[in-house]
Amino acid sequence: MKHVEPTIVAYCCHYCAYTAADMAGSMRLSYPSGINIVRIPCTGKVDPIYVMRALQDGADGVLVAGCLEGDCHFKNGNIKAMKRIAYLKKMLGEIGIDPSRVDMVLMSAGMGTQFARIVTEFADKIRELGPCSLKRAAASEPVPSACA
Ligand code: FES
Repeated sequence: MKHVEPTIVAYCCHYCAYTAADMAGSMRLSYPSGINIVRIPCTGKVDPIYVMRALQDGADGVLVAGCLEGDCHFKNGNIKAMKRIAYLKKMLGEIGIDPSRVDMVLMSAGMGTQFARIVTEFADKIRELGPCSLKRAAASEPVPSACA
């Protein structure tokens, strides 16, 4: 059976997960090559439409990684993000997409080892699910106006 590496978008808060990813790199920890890290100022900036667009544009899974509770540099961006992601997961289930393709985790900047483990486990889960059916068939397919 052909081994297909899933494409994963990881929205990582600058203050925690992004630094943890950096630390994982410094520690020479490996994690799957399909993890595409997008640095964001705070998970509170992750609009659910970004997640949907990522899935439409080729991601098989999306992980949002923010600061620990009480550590968000913008007060409660991580709490808002958790609520949004929980709502989005519910919506995904309603349209027939496995909600576990999207997840949110909280971590601190010093959790390099945990970052590598978390993204590896997430990639393993997404690999088992296979390609996401939200993916547009071809790059030439027009973007629906509601998503433009
Ligand atoms: Fe990290 Fe808000 S600053 S989640």
